[in-house]
Amino acid sequence: MPEDMTAPMGDCFDQIARDAVYRAMFTRRDVRSHFTSEAIDDEVLARLLLAAHHAPSVGFMQPWNFIVIRDAARREKVRDLFLAAREQELPEIEEERRALYRKLKLEGICESALNICITCDRQRSKASPLGRWHNPQMDLYSTVCAVQNFWLAARAEGVGVGWVSIIEAQALKDLLSIPEHVTPIAYLCVGRVSQFAPKPDLETQGWGQRLPLPELIMSETFCGQGETALKSTVARLKAVEAQAAK
Ligand SMILES: Cc1cc2nc3c(=O)[nH]c(=O)nc-3n(C[C@H](O)[C@H](O)[C@H](O)COP(=O)(O)O)c2cc1C
Repeated sequence: MPEDMTAPMGDCFDQIARDAVYRAMFTRRDVRSHFTSEAIDDEVLARLLLAAHHAPSVGFMQPWNFIVIRDAARREKVRDLFLAAREQELPEIEEERRALYRKLKLEGICESALNICITCDRQRSKASPLGRWHNPQMDLYSTVCAVQNFWLAARAEGVGVGWVSIIEAQALKDLLSIPEHVTPIAYLCVGRVSQFAPKPDLETQGWGQRLPLPELIMSETFCGQGETALKSTVARLKAVEAQAAK
């Protein structure tokens, strides 16, 4: 429970706790296909929202709101928005990948127990833009941190989360009565699942693969060579990651 976690525990977690944190990260999945009909208890949902609310935020502005969407008719309308947006996106996909794109399951809006739209209020604490004067987009990034907290906590609770971004933002705002100055950041399908897939669905379906991490590490400047020892260590750890995901 969150209250217990506030007790000081020294500089680092014990091994079991550390393993649990990494396990949540390595086994978290974007879920679209394996939702069950089981409801989510409000106690569980409350913990997930509390985890999201403890995300870091620029100037501690906490720009987020959480719209809980349970109504089936409203969700069907969101799904229609998804279907329309997918048709609009399709011509932008490389021609040889379009058939595969059409086959991909990219949402679980109606099958999941509920949906949550996490928004960013761009005017919250606007009189004191600590950290946002030069970089106004930091409020958006802060809200993404809340999404990730929610996602990881959900994995630990055995709750699946799928992020649906193939939706036209203004149409979603109209449907959910989101004011002009508020930006929808994440539309999430949330529910109990029959399984968490061992790999990303897009990897299983041949859309993409995880990039080799050593190739993404640079030294001192963009494209700077070096950090050979670190890259070797990272390459060795990858095997551990694969083990954790089993
Ligand atoms: C910002 C963002 C938007 C995403 N939008 C979609 C989406 O519209 N539909 C979908 O099926 N997955 C979406 N995803 C999930 C990614 O496809 C998924 O994270 C990626 O394939 C890796 O799989 P994993 O999350 O299971 O590790 C989104 C993820 C992020 C971070």
